[in-house]
Amino acid sequence: MLEQFKKDVLEGLSAEPKRLPSKYFYDERGDELFVQIMHLPEYYLTRAEHEIFRDQTDNIIQELGISPDKHFELIELGAGDGTKTKELLAKLTANGFSFEYLPIDISQNALDGLKGSLSLELPEVCCRPKQGDYFEVLESLKSGKHQKIVLFLGSNIGNLSDERATDFMNELGKTLNSGDILFLGVDNLKDESIVLPAYNDSSGVTRAFNLNLLERINRELDANFIIEDFEHAPEYTVESGVAKSFLKSMKDQRVTIDSIGAEFHFKKGEKIHTEVSRKYNDVIIEKITKNAPFEISSKLSDSNNYFTDYILRISNYS
Ligand code: AVI
Repeated sequence: MLEQFKKDVLEGLSAEPKRLPSKYFYDERGDELFVQIMHLPEYYLTRAEHEIFRDQTDNIIQELGISPDKHFELIELGAGDGTKTKELLAKLTANGFSFEYLPIDISQNALDGLKGSLSLELPEVCCRPKQGDYFEVLESLKSGKHQKIVLFLGSNIGNLSDERATDFMNELGKTLNSGDILFLGVDNLKDESIVLPAYNDSSGVTRAFNLNLLERINRELDANFIIEDFEHAPEYTVESGVAKSFLKSMKDQRVTIDSIGAEFHFKKGEKIHTEVSRKYNDVIIEKITKNAPFEISSKLSDSNNYFTDYILRISNYS
């Protein structure tokens, strides 16, 4: 893990333009800051998707086409604290559906927290957490005989470039069987007056989240970034459809990273690209699934039409 981190930092800061992978946001401090982001007034994504799960639960169940007499596996990729999913789990349980809930996460800590809270709030739900890489776990579940419904919520797919999202969809398609479903939550394309504040909140939490990446490099890789000499610089236009976060150097400066024995030069105004957050519509969903066996079956949006949950069915019925 540490070796990979070093390799990615060396590669990213040696590139032109400079970049750092957003997956390194999520250390302990980053996880805390992301929880705060999800509660920010400007960060509408979590609230909008929660509204869909809270107010349209019957609709979700109907569109999934499931019935209480047919057992299924509800698999969630990167479940977090499961707040939204719990709305669906409660309804499924109350209506006598027969299913197992299998949250998959790389973090055992996150899974332990989720299992603990579920055993208190919804003890009837059969929860079997799986720690590990999404694709490895899905591959190990492939031979199961029950229908699988895979939840991938929160517009997490949006943190991948379209090229990587396309690969992700292809890989995911390979681990599923005919009749299985992908339930994909994405942020809709919309005006910059709504999107940009979500990535540049007035209380500075997203700024701290972005800068924490440099603090993490200082902590874990013995670097000497002076945090005050960098600024959070998000960008979004509706034409691009991609919110991008950058860290901008406020002056000409040199930074050394002892554990990789490297020194980097930053020009005043030079930016490090740290994150993409893609926004979607049907055309873009079709584009990233064009080589995968998925077909849009239906979709549900919140009352502001900010966010959409797509129901994608495996289309290669054999
Ligand atoms: C996790 N992911 C979907 C968030 C997003 O909206 O791209 C991460 C985030 N970055 C800044 N704010 C939130």
